[in-house]
Amino acid sequence: MRGKNIIIGICGGIAAYKIPQLVRLLKKRGANVRVALTDGGTRFVSELALATVSGEPVYRKIFPPMDTENMDYTRHITLGEWADALVIAPATANTLAKLTAGLCDDMLSVIFITLRPAKPVLIFPAMDGQMFLSPSVQRNIATLAAQGCTIINPESGELASGLCGLGRMPEPEAILASLEEVLHTTENISPLSGKSVVVTAGPTREKIDGVRFISNYSSGKMGFAVARAAAKRGALVTLITGPVHLDTPPGVKRIDVESAAEMHDAAQKFFRSCSIFIGAAAVADYRPAAPCEGKIKKDAQEMELSLVRNPDILAEFSLQKSSGQLAIGFALEMESDIDNARKKLETKKLDLIAFNFFDHKTAGFEVDTNILTLIENQGTTTELPQLTKESAAERLLDAIEQRCTRT
Ligand code: CTP
Repeated sequence: MRGKNIIIGICGGIAAYKIPQLVRLLKKRGANVRVALTDGGTRFVSELALATVSGEPVYRKIFPPMDTENMDYTRHITLGEWADALVIAPATANTLAKLTAGLCDDMLSVIFITLRPAKPVLIFPAMDGQMFLSPSVQRNIATLAAQGCTIINPESGELASGLCGLGRMPEPEAILASLEEVLHTTENISPLSGKSVVVTAGPTREKIDGVRFISNYSSGKMGFAVARAAAKRGALVTLITGPVHLDTPPGVKRIDVESAAEMHDAAQKFFRSCSIFIGAAAVADYRPAAPCEGKIKKDAQEMELSLVRNPDILAEFSLQKSSGQLAIGFALEMESDIDNARKKLETKKLDLIAFNFFDHKTAGFEVDTNILTLIENQGTTTELPQLTKESAAERLLDAIEQRCTRT
């Protein structure tokens, strides 16, 4: 903790009275602590107590009073730049909703926005158990977790209402331990940090005429999970995606394309400069040879569509890559046939291929889970269990990290 800059955001919950103790614990460990207090928070803990224990003014409003000398008029930005971590404890349902929506009407919510991207945010929701479990609160928590915030669920015990149950904020000692753990993990710098990673994702659409196309069922979920996990590890991620209904993961540069040809053109620009190319897209192998501009009429009883091969984007990268670059692919196979995946690893000259067993329900397109087997060109094969696509992406990146440290 020594020398670390920590901002503690306090909202209007009864557990706020415990936060001066957390500030003291952090100060004792050598951290620099600043406090952002919401209006609700002032009802439960005094500004004077917090200023006294932190040795700093307490931040509340975005706009500073005009009569103060030496005022930092861009304080909302400088605080976000200053912090090594933001801890929000207790976090109320109201503040969770504000953070989810991106509202900035007090210093705490604006610091959440201006905090530098790789800095950890720990959120400790504390409220009545029914409130905590309400669909709105759970939805906001899920959104914040997907954005990369660490959510620490409340504990069970005696509540201010007199009831006993879920909702209590963990004790200051436990909050400190969580913060230490998160900072330790963040600082164990990943070998992917600063590396340029290109991920292709989603399906492609191959035009038949002005209103029709050939495509596939890829949802893009796996590719987006890979991009998110790489960005979390500090990689500079470019995500080249076909048409999908997914939000761009935080910190990821997204390029939207439609056809395999467009994906190929966009990807080619990074072939020389990227360190790692991950082909997670379900690129259409063929496209109509002569797409029409208008709409084909159903004049004939039968029609033939002539198709021509699309470029194999990943193979093209792989065949021209230099020794420091890594080519990673996915092999979606209908039957549990790992040999096809091995063949693709060899013919495309990949460093690693994720054999992706396709069974409609637990793995493959559109579902939220996946079953991968990671096969490396250096012989190692790792079978992963059924995992969420997020966890499967993390395991794939663990393997890529190990590969980076070996080469
Ligand atoms: N791939 C690609 N460009 C293509 C086809 C595939 O970049 N035109 C990449 C995919 O993103 C994936 C890997 O190659 O990482 C394997 O894709 P897959 O569809 O499983 O295999 P194909 O090579 O297309 O072979 P087949 O369709 O015969 O199984």
